Amino acid sequence: AGRVSIGLLNSLARGNVIFRNKKCVRKSKSVVLISRCHARSLSSSSSSSIGAAQPVLSSHLAGKTYSDLYELSVKDPETFWGSIAKERLAWTKPFDQVTDCDLSSGKINWFLGGQLNVSGDCMFISVKHSNLRELLEMTCRLANTLKSYGVQRGERVAIYMPVSPMAVAAMMACARIGAVHTVVFAGFSSEALAGRIQDAQCKFVITCNQGVRGGRIFDLKSTVDKAVKSCPSIRHVFVAKRTNNSVPMGKLDISLEEVMAGQSSVCAPEPMDSEEMLFMLYTSGSTGKPKGIVHTQAGYLLYASLTHQYVFDYTPGDVFGCVADIGWITGHSYVVYGPLCNGATSVLFESTPVYPNPGRYWETVQRLRINQFYGAPTAIRLLLKYEENWVKKYDRSSLKTLASVGEPINHEAWEWFHNVVGDGRCPLVDTWWQTETGGVCIAPLPAEPGAEIRPAMAMRPFFGIQPALLGEKGQIITGNDVSGALCISQPWPGMARTIFGDHQRFMDAYFKPYQGQYFTGDGAYRTEDGYYQITGRMDDVINISGHRLGTAEIEDALDEHPDVPETAVIGIPHEIKGEGEAPDEPSIYGLEIYFVSCESISSLFKVVKRLPKTRSGKIMRRILRKVAMQDTSNLGDVSTLDDPSVVSEIIEAHKHYR
Ligand code: PRX
Repeated sequence: AGRVSIGLLNSLARGNVIFRNKKCVRKSKSVVLISRCHARSLSSSSSSSIGAAQPVLSSHLAGKTYSDLYELSVKDPETFWGSIAKERLAWTKPFDQVTDCDLSSGKINWFLGGQLNVSGDCMFISVKHSNLRELLEMTCRLANTLKSYGVQRGERVAIYMPVSPMAVAAMMACARIGAVHTVVFAGFSSEALAGRIQDAQCKFVITCNQGVRGGRIFDLKSTVDKAVKSCPSIRHVFVAKRTNNSVPMGKLDISLEEVMAGQSSVCAPEPMDSEEMLFMLYTSGSTGKPKGIVHTQAGYLLYASLTHQYVFDYTPGDVFGCVADIGWITGHSYVVYGPLCNGATSVLFESTPVYPNPGRYWETVQRLRINQFYGAPTAIRLLLKYEENWVKKYDRSSLKTLASVGEPINHEAWEWFHNVVGDGRCPLVDTWWQTETGGVCIAPLPAEPGAEIRPAMAMRPFFGIQPALLGEKGQIITGNDVSGALCISQPWPGMARTIFGDHQRFMDAYFKPYQGQYFTGDGAYRTEDGYYQITGRMDDVINISGHRLGTAEIEDALDEHPDVPETAVIGIPHEIKGEGEAPDEPSIYGLEIYFVSCESISSLFKVVKRLPKTRSGKIMRRILRKVAMQDTSNLGDVSTLDDPSVVSEIIEAHKHYR
């Protein structure tokens, strides 16, 4: 089941393609589809075909192959990014310098002197489609509302809302008036929200009365009320109605739809300098205090839109289904900014993969005729334990590309996603990237015609991304069949610019560990053929008697067991072997501690009912390590855990095995 052959991404290699101005595409195509528990939909006469070929990267670059383009992108970034930026983005003032960067001093600037408005670019004014017109009107009314309550350019606005058209409008409204949004996942606790509001010094919050998820109702507004008590910077809380239930309104609170109704549906987009802040987003907080990662205007938008098109093989007319929440970077780049900039139909998924049943994703694929489906391995691992019929009973013939992100995808999950969901006919792309990178950096597409895709591997760097593997002494590791710390040697337009309020931390975390390189925090293996395989966070690398093992590889092996839904492998210090070993069980790679959520093999492993996961689905291994080492007095920040009560559950389970 190893190899999949794929076709070339559209026009990359065609010399005879006519460049189509994307504005023409947008007029007839942009639409927002809503997929939610109640199947409310703003949508849908979505998909009349626009025909013709997909736009090439830029008219200057037509007719080149992936290898040519990749080579140009890293050897001559000015020409590559300069020509693409000129044609892809709607500049109100052209830029006069493509790039001015120095990674060793943390200086990152793109498209200097240029001005544009991201919301203007994403919702071209003459658009005819009713969904986009509706979104544009909503955005403008909301933008005018924010202005009328004193929101200034550059000020931070917290958005604490579930995925919804209003949430997208809120992001776009901030972008339109030059305010900086910081979306906080609407499942986070009031403490987590308060911490982010305080760090970002937000003066405004946009939220909903309630949220609806997996058949349950959540009191979002009361969570905001609790948070705001410890946030003196807050002047107003705008409250949209997601349900018809009324909630107590205080003196800071403004009923959003009511005030929007009195505002004009036209709001001129504010011209923004390329390097002004567009948004900040806090990273998931698996370690230490969350970091407010800052992205700016032009470079981010360009990178999100280019990757959206080429990594997922998006062509105009496609329905793009990224099921991530807008509270994560994936939702920012591939639910909102990338698709809207490309005039795409983007699906908003508010529900969970198992509500009302485990067929939810595939029913959505059938109903909306989704062409690209982008999800997380954690959801796939959950779904593959159910009957295949939950997939098979739905028509998935619309699917063209499947994609995964967020964690290493284990082989079992990859094969199931590829063979069961995609019937073995759709390329499945494992996309590696981070909140800090703005968009996908390593993924199997784009590639030459006929190039293979290997299971569970991100493989190829995207245009402009020059990966490097670095050794313990800081040396660049050359050749193939080697492992090291994954760094990126050159700046690219989508990369983060700083950590809000703490540029030194930005430098220390990303540029100091390996001088002159952007350090990702992940380890990677370069195969004999020069492809990249992510081995997991560097802090998840286990060293036993001198053998370096990525936790992902071991988890992969364990996940093959039919009774194991999920595994987390951690290393704990061992005075002789480096990290723990179990002498009587060599077949489990000599590791002492595993946490798995399955009873039947409990004699070998520490079995827990659930693993400690963040709301974005990442396993918080730090907690497991502390429990394994019986050091539970200070577990650090657990506010981003999906359900903090899992911690005591695991401590109890561990006692049982000691
Ligand atoms: O460890 C890598 C893992 O997720 C980290 C980035 O997390 P975040 O900023 O929340 O962004 C997630 C969505 C882009 C990375 O440092 N990661 C992400 N994608 C993959 C991955 N690990 C392995 N394979 C991937 N495809």
